[in-house]
Amino acid sequence: MVTLFHGTLTQHLPEILANGISEGEGWGGAGTRGTFLSGSIQGALYWAKIAYQRDAGEKMEIDRFDRDHGHHADELIAVLVVDVPESETSRLKADEEQFEDVGADFDPADWQRSLKEIGDVRFEGPIPKEWVQEVVPPSRVKRAGRRAPAVPVELDLATNMFGKLKSGPRSKVMALIQNPSQKTWDNAHGVILNSQWMTLWQAILAVDPTFPKEGKATDVKGRVIEGWPRVPDPDLVIRALKYATH
Ligand SMILES: NC(=O)c1ccc[n+]([C@@H]2O[C@H](COP(=O)([O-])OP(=O)(O)OC[C@H]3O[C@@H](n4cnc5c(N)ncnc54)[C@H](O)[C@@H]3O)[C@@H](O)[C@H]2O)c1
Repeated sequence: MVTLFHGTLTQHLPEILANGISEGEGWGGAGTRGTFLSGSIQGALYWAKIAYQRDAGEKMEIDRFDRDHGHHADELIAVLVVDVPESETSRLKADEEQFEDVGADFDPADWQRSLKEIGDVRFEGPIPKEWVQEVVPPSRVKRAGRRAPAVPVELDLATNMFGKLKSGPRSKVMALIQNPSQKTWDNAHGVILNSQWMTLWQAILAVDPTFPKEGKATDVKGRVIEGWPRVPDPDLVIRALKYATH
């Protein structure tokens, strides 16, 4: 059995609990269909927030969701805990919808690699309601505090040449802390943290010399052929923020 997570809107819960999770169309333009699942509860929570904003016609930014809806998030979104039986794991595939975004290009059958490098997978087909084990409201995810630390004060201290870190770069770093993946790291690595123009990547290298100095591999035409060799975990990002801002 493999335990995975699906982020959704509370308005869909009655239908999902009665009939299971139905297949959807991916958003990334890869043209795949299936049920999209995250390897972590925080990953699914991230997608639930984005799905809510998409549905409501709001700007899709995690930081903005937390600011605008954090106080009543339990009313809007939830995470479903899904147990995929061992006999069905052959229907798990990589989340190809994110391949382009994160510069990944590996065998779509390699769902384990997708979980490791992207954080998400696709299940080919709908998820029967019997596989849904639990509905977790966002407030319980925070309390459980499993991989997602509270908003670090370091982010507020981070400044760039233009003064306080603006909400765009700030939400990039927050997204990385809340959902470490190829995509969020790709978006956040170049964020400037202090008046010496130190980027997040440089700060990470300063506090962890074992962190890869090479980025994504590209071919002669500059096309990405391999993703980032490593994505920093939240603790490392926070240590780097402390280093750059103190
Ligand atoms: N939601 C996640 O946890 C998750 C996980 C990994 C990746 N993703 C990414 O998000 C993109 C979209 O995936 P998605 O699943 O969030 O959206 P979707 O467009 O596939 O589905 C639309 C909405 O319908 C809901 N739904 C499912 N079954 C339902 C039912 N029986 N009745 C009513 N509503 C139902 C879904 O939860 C979702 O909120 C994908 O491209 C994928 O890369 C999402």
